[in-house]
Amino acid sequence: MKIETLKIGNITLSSNIILAPMAGITDLPFRVMAKAGGAGLGCTEMVSAKALAYVDKKTRELMTIDAGERPVSIQIFGADIDSMTTAAKIVEQSGADILDINLGCPVRKIAKSGAGAKLTSNEKLTAQILEAVVKAVKIPVTLKTRLGPEPEQNTAARILKIAYECGIKMAALHARYTINGHSGAPDINAFKGACFDSKIPIIANGGIDFSNAGDFLSADNCVGLMIGRGAIGNYSIFSRLQKFLDTGVINQEPPLEQKMSWLVEHARKANAYYANGRGLIIMRKTLPYYFKGLPNCHKIIGELNQVSTIEEFEKAVGEYLG
Ligand SMILES: Cc1cc2nc3c(=O)[nH]c(=O)nc-3n(C[C@H](O)[C@H](O)[C@H](O)COP(=O)(O)O)c2cc1C
Repeated sequence: MKIETLKIGNITLSSNIILAPMAGITDLPFRVMAKAGGAGLGCTEMVSAKALAYVDKKTRELMTIDAGERPVSIQIFGADIDSMTTAAKIVEQSGADILDINLGCPVRKIAKSGAGAKLTSNEKLTAQILEAVVKAVKIPVTLKTRLGPEPEQNTAARILKIAYECGIKMAALHARYTINGHSGAPDINAFKGACFDSKIPIIANGGIDFSNAGDFLSADNCVGLMIGRGAIGNYSIFSRLQKFLDTGVINQEPPLEQKMSWLVEHARKANAYYANGRGLIIMRKTLPYYFKGLPNCHKIIGELNQVSTIEEFEKAVGEYLG
């Protein structure tokens, strides 16, 4: 299945198989790993527009970009026009290639502020924010959203129409409802229904693997795939999916040695990027993904959660490999 390389504004992707934004995971070291694995676009985790507008130092750290990871997108969330446009300008100044707007986060705290998926229940305000943000910056603006709040309430088609009218250049559509969080099977039929009339290109997201990638891409206006958890510790998923789409061939899962080599590389990058040994702490969230289904996973994760230097980290991984 040949898919034409996507152009988002003036940015041409090397592949339409891209990395999903994931809070606490898609930091700079992780994105560099994903890029090396073939991701056509990386994205930061969602950044609070309000925190950006208040020049929060920790929030700014989330936006640091490495020259080798481009093109990269910075995602913001918020529910008021002023902070969203201010944040959009800061994102542009920080050198992001693309600005992404979060219209899909199901987390209660975010919903309470009216942002993320919750914002889509107020279509007027959604349109006002999208329009104002698009006008505020020169870089292309994209968004990420969901099918709707819950089954039978497939509001995505309307949001995609608003997005088009406001000048949004691409939308990632998570084929789950807000009520589903990040679990359960994606609803591919509802996804196809939402894509049907879209005037902007859609990137499919939600539990994508080799068994359903082709089905997602058969939806009207669906031009690419966005991979989240399936990429953690499995960076070649991007190039393997690309090869599968190009040739129909599914390359074997990477062997254990490869996964452990990625783990060490990720740890080195995180350790070098964050000061005072914070990198090894920050990347702990990814460990359950690296060791999922592997023997003695609890023991090795426990050990890696205790180490404080990269040397100890590498030694523990080496001993695990035996
Ligand atoms: C730990 C975690 C953090 C996430 N953080 C974000 C985020 O910051 N912004 C966002 O739009 N989606 C976020 N998501 C949702 C993912 O981008 C993606 O939509 C979801 O994981 C489904 O894709 P997958 O099945 O390929 O993992 C997050 C998901 C997870 C698991």
